[in-house]
Order: sequence, then C-alpha cells, then structure tokens
Amino acid sequence: MSDKKASNQMWGGRFASGPAAIMEAINASIGFDRKLYAQDIRGSIAHSEMLAQTGIVSADDQQKIAHGLNTILAEIESGKFAFSTRLEDIHMNVEARLAELIGPAAGRLHTARSRNDQVAVDFRLWVKDEFNRVAVALKGLIETLLTRAEEHAATVMPGFTHLQTAQPVTFGHHCMAYVEMFARDLSRVRDALERMDESPLGAAALAGTGFPVDRHQTAKALGFREPTRNSLDSVSDRDYALEFLSVAAITATHLSRLAEEIVIWSTPQFGFVRLSDSYSTGSSIMPQKKNPDAAELVRAKTGRVNGHLVGLLTVMKGLPLTYSKDMQEDKEAVFDAAETLDLMLAAMTGMIGDLTVNVAAMKKAAGSGYSTATDLADWLVRSLNMPFREAHHVTGRAVALAEEKKVGLEKLSLDDLRSIHHGITDDVFTVLSVQNSVKSRTSFGGTAPAEVRRQIRYWKKRLPKA
Ligand code: ARG
Repeated sequence: MSDKKASNQMWGGRFASGPAAIMEAINASIGFDRKLYAQDIRGSIAHSEMLAQTGIVSADDQQKIAHGLNTILAEIESGKFAFSTRLEDIHMNVEARLAELIGPAAGRLHTARSRNDQVAVDFRLWVKDEFNRVAVALKGLIETLLTRAEEHAATVMPGFTHLQTAQPVTFGHHCMAYVEMFARDLSRVRDALERMDESPLGAAALAGTGFPVDRHQTAKALGFREPTRNSLDSVSDRDYALEFLSVAAITATHLSRLAEEIVIWSTPQFGFVRLSDSYSTGSSIMPQKKNPDAAELVRAKTGRVNGHLVGLLTVMKGLPLTYSKDMQEDKEAVFDAAETLDLMLAAMTGMIGDLTVNVAAMKKAAGSGYSTATDLADWLVRSLNMPFREAHHVTGRAVALAEEKKVGLEKLSLDDLRSIHHGITDDVFTVLSVQNSVKSRTSFGGTAPAEVRRQIRYWKKRLPKA
C-alpha cells in the first residue's frame, strides 16, 4: 500500500502519509523546545559530573560525555546542527547526536534520569533567565519614568476619574503611579524567582531513583538554592511557568493602561504629549496624521499575553499526577509571552523616554472642568468651619453659577461668591488656581510637587543597582 492510500480519505491531502506522520506532527516539540538547547546541555553536563563523582559512571566516560555535549553546543550555536522531528524533542536530538559523536558512553548519560525531570530542570533554568531579563527591562522602564517624573514634578495636568476631569495633579505624580505599578511587578518577579529556585533534577521519571545520586550537588551546580522535596511534584509542577505568565499578564495589563493613556494624550483633542517620529507612523492617505501605533500594539499584545496565561491554566487544570504529555504545551505559551513582553517593555521604555510633554496644554486642561471645586469646598471647611457636606453643597452652587456665566471658578467675582455664601472672603482666591491646588496636596503620597519629589527619592534609593 502506498503512503497516499494509507492516509485518511478525509484529510489525506494535507498529510503526505498515514497515521505515523500525524502522530509525529502532534507529538514532536523540537520545533519550539530547541530554544532550550543551552539549558539542556548545561543540565546534562551537571548531571554527568554528579554521576562521575558518585561513581555511577566512570571519569573517563564522563569526560567523553562532557566533551561531546560541548561539541553539540558549538554545532547548534553555529547553525550546523541538524534538528530532526523524528527525534521528537531537544533532549532526544542532543542525546542521539551524542551517540554519533562518542559512541556507547553516550548511553550512560541518561542513568538515574528521565526526560520528565530533564525537561523540568531545563524549563526552570530558561524561565529563571527570562525572569531576570524581565527584571532588567522593568528596571529600565522604572528609571525612565523616574527621569520624566523628576522633570515634571510640578507640571500640572488634570487628574481624572471616569475619564472626567477630577482634580489637578502633576504629570510627575502620574508617572510615579506607574512607577508603583512596575515596582510591584518587579517585586512579583523577585518573589517568583525565590519560590522557583529549586532543582527537580534527580526526581527521575516520578519516583526518584535507586542510584546514589547527589541532588544537592546538581542543584548547586545549576545555580539552584536546593533540590525540590517531592519527586512526584518535581515532574508534575509547572507553577513557575504559570507564575511567569501571571507576572507577565499583570505587567502587560499595566503596560496596556499606560499605552491607552498615551493614545488618548496624543490625540489632537488632548494634545498633552507628542510622540517622537521613532514611535509613531504616518498615514498613507491623510498627510496630517501621526499615529501612536507602538502604543496601540502594546495595548493589543496584552491580549496575547493574557491569553497564554488562561491557556496554560486550562492545560494544567485537572491533570492527574504526575507528568502527562499535555504539559509539553507549556513551552510555546511561555516563549511567546516572554518574547511579546520583552518587546512591549522595550517599546514602552522607548516611547516614554522620547515623548514630548506639552506643558501648556496640560495646564490649560487642568484648569477646565471646575477642577478646583474640591479646593473651594475644603477652604469653606477650613476657613468657615463648615461641615464638609454643607461645603460640598455651597460649592455646587458656585459651580452652577460659573457654568451659567461660562467662566472658571477663579474668574467668579468676590461678590458672586458672597451671593452664595456671605462668609467667603478674598482669601478664597489663593486656593482656586491649579498650581495652588496641587501645592496644597501635601499628604503622604499626595500630588504636591515636594511630595512627588520625596517619592522619587524613595524609589531611586530602593531600586536595585545591578
Ligand atoms: N518533550 C517533552 C515535554 O516537553 C519532554 C518530556 C517527555 N517525557 C515523556 N515521558 N514523554 O514535555
């Protein structure tokens, strides 16, 4: 029977041959897990060294194994390695090549090990490295925000709730809100790294091994704090991947909010910021356009990252202990989320660093929408000892009057104000300007420029140097 005949009538056209080819296509992970080659080789070298030190393999064989593995590393890095789908995954591709290179000694490498603990240790090493890359990128973004915050600690802009003008704040204060968010993301990265810092190598297939392995040695050699404590959990745990995706999803969600603000701020209607040419595009038909594509894509890519989190949670839910092939689906989710997040962080850092702030437009908008109404109410409370609820009511009438006269609160005359409440004096005008409003918010964490500068100093001191 020809291959064509053997293939299914319904989908035979798509596949060159029968079920074996389909099995290979669904089973193989080499297309994506080749990304783990360096971790796989590093793990195998550490494992072989431990096998030699515990007398499980001879020193001679171990030297051949290590030499062969280093040759393979060089082959892969120079693009000379021929990956084979038939060999399923990175582990078997490397091991098969090792056999070609060094002969029978290659067969000793897999003693006291299974692909189950092997893939777990490889993937942990990769996720650890990626967490560290994200930490560096987050730090870069935070530093950029701190620089912009320092520049604009006293630049007034409208603060919003419901995207309606609420109270004046400063642009520096707004930047610092994002510093808080990204600093929390960074602390989540550190927490997750701390928790995942255990080596599963030596758990073998699931039950541990009867060989006298030294799991503490391999853990140490691979830079882990200690070995994992339960062999079943070691091969079935993917919490570190889920935690990576959770951290990535929360970070991406923060990035999407900032991206959305940039989209809004850069519209001609707001005109608060102008993106540099490097982070915007023009329109092929409308010459006046400058589109915030990078911000829009940061906003959009969040969907992809969040999707990967839900995807892997769904893969893992209901899996019985221990390893199941389902878990092979962990890698593409994490790799794509990582690549996407790295790009989003780089794009956001670039945009924030480059954008021009339109101080005049922000100030103008800060004064619109009766943004100092709360300041008037607070003045009534402070100066006339009025209960806040009553002050709120009086201020509401002042706003209505200003609206009727089509002017800002600060443009109402003293007589106008006194017609609403006789106790109001000239002194009230000191609180009705946006600058004074902002300056007065000196509570800890408030928007007063002096307070914003204090928080900038705090984060500058706290950010890790490296
Ligand atoms: N390619 C597999 C994965 O990524 C490696 C582990 C395979 N183990 C097994 N027992 N089939 O999960």
